[in-house]
Amino acid sequence: MSDDPVFPFPSNGPIPRHVAVIMDGNGRWAAERGLPRHEGHWEGMKAVREVIEGSLEAGIEILTLFAFSTENWQRPEEEIEALMTLLKIYVEQEQAELRERGIEVRVLGDLGRMDEEARAAVDRIQSVTSGGAELRLNLMISYSGRADIVRAARELARKVAAGELTPEQIDDRAFSEALYTGALPDPDLLIRTSAEFRISNFMLWQLAYTEFHITPCLWPDFTRRELFSAVAEYQRRERRFGRVSAP
Ligand code: IPE
Ligand code: IPE
Ligand code: MG
Repeated sequence: MSDDPVFPFPSNGPIPRHVAVIMDGNGRWAAERGLPRHEGHWEGMKAVREVIEGSLEAGIEILTLFAFSTENWQRPEEEIEALMTLLKIYVEQEQAELRERGIEVRVLGDLGRMDEEARAAVDRIQSVTSGGAELRLNLMISYSGRADIVRAARELARKVAAGELTPEQIDDRAFSEALYTGALPDPDLLIRTSAEFRISNFMLWQLAYTEFHITPCLWPDFTRRELFSAVAEYQRRERRFGRVSAP
């Protein structure tokens, strides 16, 4: 592999601090093999391990994975159940290793819609991994960008009504901090698998100046090599933030 410029990992420019991923294509991966959709989700868990491993190797600080959207609650009951079961299995199987590797996991989204067992799994993984300093892993579950913005607006409105904040104090920064991602920097790079050219209600505020990388690879086939080639492409981009050249 030594003649491969994107392996082990790219070093021709900055490593994105924060990488976000829309993990899509599990159903299609299963359908291609004549398997039920949940088999695709199961296989997708391996790709989650890969992208975490790759992020640690590359020195990415924050990894945000879109695992289940607000709109995904409209899927058939049995698929939702399979996904929630997978979350519980993931927590059981991975919590010790995540902690050992210094990965701090946060689960962000409207968790009130999940069943008690799934919420308990979320509490467990967050407390077990709390304080990990190698990588911050955000699992976005029952999450959508609009719901995130509406929730932040409500929280700010409540503070104004309580006299804790003036309307003039609501600026970009205050708004960002009221979102689920709080004080974290915005994603530098967004990866979407399965060749869909849409944002599907993901992090609408935070992606304002994020670089997009869309790959035909279906999520269960995603490897760290895919991550590194996305990073290599990112390193060839010029981020201008509305100016005439990079700041
Ligand atoms: C992504 O794969 C996982 C979730 C949205 C939970 P999909 O389940 O959307 O797979 P496709 O898009 O139908 O192939
Ligand atoms: C986006 O994928 C949500 C997640 C990856 C969790 P979807 O499969 O739900 O999005 P659409 O329906 O293709 O836009
Ligand atoms: Mg999909």
